Amino acid sequence: MEKDRKIDKVVNLAKRRGFIFPSSEIYGGLNSIYDYGPLGVELKNNLKKAWWDFMLARPDIVGLDSAILAHPQIWEASGHLEGFSDPLVDCKKCKSRFRADHLLAVQKKGIKPDFGKSKPKDKKKISCPSCGGELTEVRQFNLMFKTFMGPVEDSAGQIYLRPETAQGIYVNFLNSKEAMRLKIPFGIAQIGKAFRNEITTENFIFRMREFEQMEMQYFVDGQNNKQIFENFKKLRYDWYLSLGIDKENLRFRDHAKDELAHYASQATDIEYKFDFAGDGGFKELEGIHDRGDWDLSRHQKFSGQKMSLTDDQGREFVPQIIETSGGVDRAALAFLLDAYTEIEGGRSTTTESKKEKEVVLRLDKRLAPIKIAILPLSKKENLTAKARQIYQLLSAAYRLQYDETGSIGKRYRRQDEIGTPYCLTVDFDSLEDNQVTIRDRDSMAQERVSSNELKAYFQEKFSL
Ligand code: GAP
Repeated sequence: MEKDRKIDKVVNLAKRRGFIFPSSEIYGGLNSIYDYGPLGVELKNNLKKAWWDFMLARPDIVGLDSAILAHPQIWEASGHLEGFSDPLVDCKKCKSRFRADHLLAVQKKGIKPDFGKSKPKDKKKISCPSCGGELTEVRQFNLMFKTFMGPVEDSAGQIYLRPETAQGIYVNFLNSKEAMRLKIPFGIAQIGKAFRNEITTENFIFRMREFEQMEMQYFVDGQNNKQIFENFKKLRYDWYLSLGIDKENLRFRDHAKDELAHYASQATDIEYKFDFAGDGGFKELEGIHDRGDWDLSRHQKFSGQKMSLTDDQGREFVPQIIETSGGVDRAALAFLLDAYTEIEGGRSTTTESKKEKEVVLRLDKRLAPIKIAILPLSKKENLTAKARQIYQLLSAAYRLQYDETGSIGKRYRRQDEIGTPYCLTVDFDSLEDNQVTIRDRDSMAQERVSSNELKAYFQEKFSL
């Protein structure tokens, strides 16, 4: 295994500092399922809020929260029952299981994983990456999780956990349009859980079996899809940059014709340079898809409900869809990796910290789980009482952490490691002059601010 991978350090930090835990750990864990800890849930909520505000700030986009369980016919109409499968191969010797397209991509550089749902052209030339053994023929494996509704476990009660949030939007297209008196073009945004029984799960929260999506479906009349598609590509790319992702680590990748999903007429991935990935490290973060009228036409056909509209010229048309589809977890991972910085030899001035490597998580202020740490210089009652007073003052507006244990240098480093933008220290002078010291995570600049002005001070610091 490659040494010093950033992902390994982030996994370690995430567990140790309460961002992300392996799920059901006391029972040995559950493959590719993760739980978000006290800091992780804050990060994830901040990330979802940033996306939600970005979408809902537009007058032409409304929100939705549809159910995870849905009528099974939805998955027939959407094509998921028939086509949402991956090519699976097993090793005859060690019984390991792989996605055939991933194997081809890894072992035969230069061969495109382009066979999608069919047999790999070069299967004979590939072998088990674990033991070199011979592989079985390719079988198709449907990725949807099944469950049963009602007391009887028979095929009549069989339903599925949704593999994407998008379909919940399509089947609420008419309801939303009518209730909100919307006119084409308009969008519906939704954040929610999705489930896929992935064959190969990999790299921490990059590919999970239970994950969250943030999807926006923009309904158009089909007259200028190219322009709308290009606009959303740029808007979504810029959104990642605006929240601090380094431009060097972000790129577009257009899908080749033979790689397009069954519903898409054009598609682009926004890719992030995940350090664990091949092909220069870039892997999908979010997809922008032109889905044409596939979805509403199919739902019209399967439900019998009329989905078409009539334009000002009297032309009847089934609305087409431009989709932006991102993963909350994948974005959280990208933001964590991008923010993770190690400073060899340390940057603090205290003698104890000089020799050590320091970690700073340079998360955007909007994403940081803890906004301000409140640190009384000592555990003396008069200092802690004042620090607690300040905690009370700021706690309604900001997520805070109170810490009175260890040296101040150690406490600063604990906060740097979890990305807290500001540390506020109450010292003995504070008792005299009613001022506190505020330290900036990135510049380490310190300034004295009156306790009476703290609300206004942080309001300015956290304003956009
Ligand atoms: N509605 C279209 C759709 O679902 P997708 O490319 O299959 O498209 C969209 O998924 C996004 O969802 C991906 O770009 C990725 O960020 C996230 N995603 C998909 N499968 C995932 C998984 N198994 N684990 C974590 N995130 C996943």
